[in-house]
Amino acid sequence: MKLWDKGFEPDKIIEKFTVGNDRELDMRLALYDVEGSMAHITMLESIGLLTQEELQTLLSALEEIKETIRNGSFSIEEGVEDVHSQVEFMLTAKLGDLGKKIHSGRSRNDQVLLDLKLFMRDELKKIAQVTGSLCHSLLDLAERHKDVLMPGYTHLQIAMPSSFGLWFGAYAESFSDDLELLWSAYRIANRNPLGSAAGYGSSFPLDREMTTRLLHFESMHYNVVAAQMSRGKTERAAAMAVAAIASTLSHLAMDVCMWMCQNFGFVSFPDELTTGSSIMPHKKNPDVFEIMRGKCNRLQSLPNEIALLTANLPLGYNRDLQLLKDITFPATSEIISCLEMAEFMLGHIRVNTRILDDPKYDYLFTVEDVNRLALEGMPFRDAYKEIGMQVQKGEYKPDQHIRHTHAGSIGNLCNDRIAARINEILSRF
Ligand code: ARG
Repeated sequence: MKLWDKGFEPDKIIEKFTVGNDRELDMRLALYDVEGSMAHITMLESIGLLTQEELQTLLSALEEIKETIRNGSFSIEEGVEDVHSQVEFMLTAKLGDLGKKIHSGRSRNDQVLLDLKLFMRDELKKIAQVTGSLCHSLLDLAERHKDVLMPGYTHLQIAMPSSFGLWFGAYAESFSDDLELLWSAYRIANRNPLGSAAGYGSSFPLDREMTTRLLHFESMHYNVVAAQMSRGKTERAAAMAVAAIASTLSHLAMDVCMWMCQNFGFVSFPDELTTGSSIMPHKKNPDVFEIMRGKCNRLQSLPNEIALLTANLPLGYNRDLQLLKDITFPATSEIISCLEMAEFMLGHIRVNTRILDDPKYDYLFTVEDVNRLALEGMPFRDAYKEIGMQVQKGEYKPDQHIRHTHAGSIGNLCNDRIAARINEILSRF
């Protein structure tokens, strides 16, 4: 059963190949599809293409379909191509010819695009919320452990004193940059493509301002060709923001894996949050953070995958675009589950408060001592040489008392300013 039935059925193997995973993936678009149709027919009535009575009949039938989606009884039947066809067939089965009227001034090309915009808008908002929540947990941890020192590394060599306050807070602030990208992706998703129809508009006098308002879009994609071009671009912008978050999170996961290693022993987790080995009875492995690192690293390939999938496509709709759903839909769920898992695990992190008791970390303080001598009046180069010679001769004894006061340093983390920045970005969504 096809919307475009002209008296012949396509070969089954053609249908299987072209429909692909759409029946399953489109389930995530179902609610948006119905909401889009409701806005569209409300507009059709306003321009005289439906009577008030027809509109009310259609709206209540769509409301019933919405209910089946909410209660889980909605499905896309075997032989039906996609969610758009399914909804229209259900309406036609119930209302006869009236059901067929909803497609006036519309094509599945702008219908799927609209669904994707609404879907992406919601997904990006969810991602912003879970990222924000993780940031606040990180800032709480930073405050709680602000006096616990740890080694800072450059070239993976012991370098200068750092602290758990700096470490946790660094990730919160780094995520705030990713949130800016997420906000840009949200704004790109938040534009109404409805009315672009197959990609070149319609000869019906569609009121696109009205559907923009009804669906709470920030604005419309004005040019109908540009609207169609936004398929792929919308997903790519979202993917870039997801990839940025994934990159920050995989970095965090790597730190945790390394610092759980016995050679570091900086952090640990309760036994029940670790995993074991089938052969080595002593093992408590950081599998959660390894899986998180792997998933987040893979997510970073998403913008590239989209770029390749859409490279050099001719202007206008091309069926290749359908495949964007296969790669973007799992990605939004994946990043959300990784972020939620990170927040859950960090809620149980144990911090080693005595790391610097180990004399191998004594050299962390050489710069502190050089700076102390410089503050006392010795030229920096001489102070550097003085401490350098002490190290060289094995006579260096650190003064572990550190005095960092400038903004963003160990003694002045500016966590309240970081929190304010995060809240300001979140408030835009
Ligand atoms: N499943 C299709 C997609 O996601 C829906 C649009 C179909 N349009 C068409 N002209 N065949 O792109």
